[in-house]
Amino acid sequence: MFNHNALILSLALATVAGCSGEDLADPPSLQNETTPTWGGKPITDINPDPSIVEINLVAREALIALEEGSITRMYSFNGTVPGPTIEANVGDELIVHFKNELSEPTTIHWHGMRVPNAMDGTPRVQAPVAPGETFEYRFIIPDAGTYWYHPHVRTHEQVERGLYGPIVIHDPVYDPDYDLERVLVLDDIRIEDDGQISPFSPARDGMHGRSGNYLLTNGRRYDLAEGSAPLGSLERWRIVNSANARRMIVGNSNGTMKVIATDGGLLDAPYEVNRLSLAPGERYDIEVRLSQPNHELISYVMALDDNNEITELELPVFRVQTRAHKSSDSPVAGVLTWPTLPPSPTREITRTETILFDGINDPEKGLRWRLNGKSDWEEPLFSFSKGDTVRISLRNLAGPEHPFHLHGQFFKVLDPPRPGLKDTVLVPGMSTVEIEAYFDNVGHWMAHCHILEHAALGMMASIEVTP
Ligand code: C2O
Ligand code: CU
Ligand code: CU
Repeated sequence: MFNHNALILSLALATVAGCSGEDLADPPSLQNETTPTWGGKPITDINPDPSIVEINLVAREALIALEEGSITRMYSFNGTVPGPTIEANVGDELIVHFKNELSEPTTIHWHGMRVPNAMDGTPRVQAPVAPGETFEYRFIIPDAGTYWYHPHVRTHEQVERGLYGPIVIHDPVYDPDYDLERVLVLDDIRIEDDGQISPFSPARDGMHGRSGNYLLTNGRRYDLAEGSAPLGSLERWRIVNSANARRMIVGNSNGTMKVIATDGGLLDAPYEVNRLSLAPGERYDIEVRLSQPNHELISYVMALDDNNEITELELPVFRVQTRAHKSSDSPVAGVLTWPTLPPSPTREITRTETILFDGINDPEKGLRWRLNGKSDWEEPLFSFSKGDTVRISLRNLAGPEHPFHLHGQFFKVLDPPRPGLKDTVLVPGMSTVEIEAYFDNVGHWMAHCHILEHAALGMMASIEVTP
C-alpha cells in the first residue's frame, strides 16, 4: 500500500529545438494539418449514401510539426496528430477500412461508443492487426456525443506517440443550433531537448502515470492553437482529454462556463462552473459566448517555480480572436432554447458490487496495480445479464487517483452526484465514488484505469454481459 501523497505535476515547459527528419520509409507529412475548428483535418467519406460514413484510416509513423521549425517523430492516423475527426449522425453506419503501417501490432477502440462487442478493438475480441495487415470496423452508431478513438494494444506508448483522434456524433433532432462547433483535444507529451518523444520508463511513471512537459492542443503547442469568429458568436466546444495521465483543469477567460454535455451526450440541464476537470479519457462539451475581442480557454497547471515551490500556472490552451460581424457572416445565434430531451427511464438497481483499487509491490514484477486484489484479470470480474442496473462502489484504497473507464455501457455518477451519462469517472485517492451502470450491451467489456501506465501495470479487468 502506498502513502497518501499529493500528486504534483511538474511542467518544465519545453521548447522543441532542432530538426531530425531522418530516414522514414514513407514520405512523412512535414506539417500537422489540423484545423482550429476540428481536432484533426476533415476526413473523406467515400460512400455517397448519406446514412453511411465510410472512411480509410491508416496508422503510420509521421513527422509532426508541433511548432514552427520542429519535427517530432510520432505515430499518427492518416499522417496527423490528432487523427482526422470522424463525424457522423447518430444512427449512421460507420465503415472503417483500417490499415496498420506501423512496425508493431495495433487496434482501434472507439472510446465511449456502445458498439457491438466484436468491434470494440480490444485484444479480448480481436487479434491485434499485425504490421501491414488490415481490419474492417463496421457498426451502427448508437449514441450522439463526443467520443474518441485510440489503439488498445500497448496503449500507453501508442497513445503517447500520437495515435488518437476525436469523434463527433451529431443528433439532427436534439442538437442545439450553435454558430460553430469546435473540437479541442488536449494532451501532454514528454519530449527531449531534441523534440523527440522521451523514452518510456515504467519505473519512473508507474506510480502516477506519465505526465508530460509539453502541452498540446489539437496536436500543436498549446499556445499556438487559435481560431477566429464573428463577435457575439455562440459556440459549442467539445473537449477531449487524450493525455496518458494528466488531469486537465480548464476555465474560461470570460468567467464561468456552461457545461452542456458529458461523455454520454447532451445534458437535460446545462450548468455553470468556474473550472472543469477532465480526467484522462473524459469529454465535456461547453457553450461559449464570444462577447469579447479575445477569448481564451485556460488550463490550470501545477508547476515548480524557480524556488522549487509549487505554483499554479494559467496557460491559454485555445484562443479565439473575434472580428467585427461581416455581411457575409450568418447572423449569430441569440439565446438558444434548450431542447427537451427524451426522459431517461428510471431503473431499478438489480445488483450491487464493489471494485477495490489498490497497488502492491510484487517481489518479482515490481509495482502492480490491482482491481479487487488482482492484476490483469483473465476471467471476468463480474458476469451480469443484459439489462442489469448495477450500483458499483469504486473504492480507492491508496493515494494515487484512478480514472475508472467502462467499455460498451454508460453509467451515472450517484455519489458525489454528477449530471449526465459517463463512461469515465475519476476516483480520487483514498475515496469512494458510487456509480449506477447500465449493462445493456452484450459481450466481454474491459473495465480499467485510464491512466494508461496503471492499466499497463495490471489495473485492467473485463466484465461479462450475457444475453
Ligand atoms: Cu479509452 Cu479501454 O479505453
Ligand atoms: Cu474505452
Ligand atoms: Cu489508475
